[in-house]
Amino acid sequence: MEQRSQWGTRAGFILAAVGSAVGLGNIWRFPYVAYENGGGAFFIPYLFALLTAGIPILIMEFTIGHKYRGSAPLSFFRMSGKKAEWLGWWGVFVAFVVSTYYSVIVAWAIKYTFYSMNLSWGSDTKGFLYDNVLKLADTPGELGGYVPGVLIPLLVVWGIAFIILFVGVQRGIEFANRIFIPTLIVVFVIVVIRALTLDGAALGLEALFKPDLSKLTNPTVWVAAYGHIFFSLSIAFAIMITYSSYLPKKSDITNNAFITGFANSGFELLAGFGVFAALGFMATQANVAVEDVASDGVGLAFVVFPEIINQMPGMNGIFGVLFFLSLVLAGITSLVSICETYIAGLSDKFNIPRRTAVIIGVGVATVVSTLFATRGGLYFLDAADYFINQFGVAAIGLIEVALIAWVFRKLDVFQKHTNAISDIRAGFWWKACLGFITPLVLGYMMFGLLRTNILKLHDTDNGNYEGYSDTFILYGGWGIAFGALILGILVTLSKWKRNTHATTDYEED
Ligand code: ALA
Repeated sequence: MEQRSQWGTRAGFILAAVGSAVGLGNIWRFPYVAYENGGGAFFIPYLFALLTAGIPILIMEFTIGHKYRGSAPLSFFRMSGKKAEWLGWWGVFVAFVVSTYYSVIVAWAIKYTFYSMNLSWGSDTKGFLYDNVLKLADTPGELGGYVPGVLIPLLVVWGIAFIILFVGVQRGIEFANRIFIPTLIVVFVIVVIRALTLDGAALGLEALFKPDLSKLTNPTVWVAAYGHIFFSLSIAFAIMITYSSYLPKKSDITNNAFITGFANSGFELLAGFGVFAALGFMATQANVAVEDVASDGVGLAFVVFPEIINQMPGMNGIFGVLFFLSLVLAGITSLVSICETYIAGLSDKFNIPRRTAVIIGVGVATVVSTLFATRGGLYFLDAADYFINQFGVAAIGLIEVALIAWVFRKLDVFQKHTNAISDIRAGFWWKACLGFITPLVLGYMMFGLLRTNILKLHDTDNGNYEGYSDTFILYGGWGIAFGALILGILVTLSKWKRNTHATTDYEED
């Protein structure tokens, strides 16, 4: 049997974990989710979710990966048998769905890096994205054939991910992160400093920090905040369990979790400052309020940013290249971690060599992802992203925490495991967050959100998310989210082809 992979150094693991966390979520997703959920008002549920759920779950998932040393399904199986294994597979299938559309956004970013050089998008950046680049179909649900201009960069993205994953955990993933992450930090800091020094930047920051308290009673905003934090930290969809399963025995769990969590949020806040400062600049140029310059939706980074780049007083092209290059670098390192969940899962469950799992996993994902490179791709992407986050990632976060705390009752065991090897203790606060605050607050909000969404289905067609039709929402949204859960349960029913207590793994302690 293959020797289990392991990170080369502690710094290597931290860079890989930060590389996974810092991604499109921080730069592409954060601004539009913040916009759709009340702009500055989003900040409060965001911070609440980060501190009471994000960091504590990150510590928990690092502990699970380190203790059970397996892919998410194998780790959960070792924890509590088949009763828990499905949770791992659910996360793996959610990650699979995410990887299929995530790769497409990285492909757009590659195109836009080149477009930036001579501002090819012209003055109508919205028309350029929808008509020239995506060749968007008229009706959601319509496929309308492939768009070669998206398909080709998409295949390039998958090619890069394939090589990194095929080479292996240490020589592929760890090595790529060692190069990409420091480069990303340098590039992105330049972008943010430039944005903050633009005329009107302060106006944008004011919009970010001025909370509209009336939004706080809306469960949608809260679930969006939790969903976003989980997505951004790469928790609740199998990723961090997989990555931490490659840790050596002597590893400081809580310290690593704090470094990863704060690096990710630091980066996200930096991105928030940069994005809102740039929006403030744009609003000042147009002489309108910040709230009026940003359209919502997934196109924000590819519509509003080009517009901002057009209006900059100088070095527009360079700013554009650096901005979109940041998206590419951040995106690839995260994409690799998302794919690693199903590579590890396949390899563990079916007892196949890692490289065979890379070929199968990346191969199937590539084929499925081409759906989003069709003329109707953006609608599918938008619906998949929204539903997989609320009813995939956020739902897993809730159920994982509730089951581990209340049903499998593992918090004490994990606390002991982690505190025995970590400098910072996971104390009472940690158990209170996971055993009490997160399940109650997130559970309450999720219930409210489900209720609203189900009621919307009985409403007129326009009551759905983004006004999509009932049929489209049923298969493009609910279908995908529940599909991941159902597939997860089905795979759980099949037998492990390997010895789940193999001696190449650490003994269970
Ligand atoms: N954590 C990754 C991101 O933020 C998935 O994009």
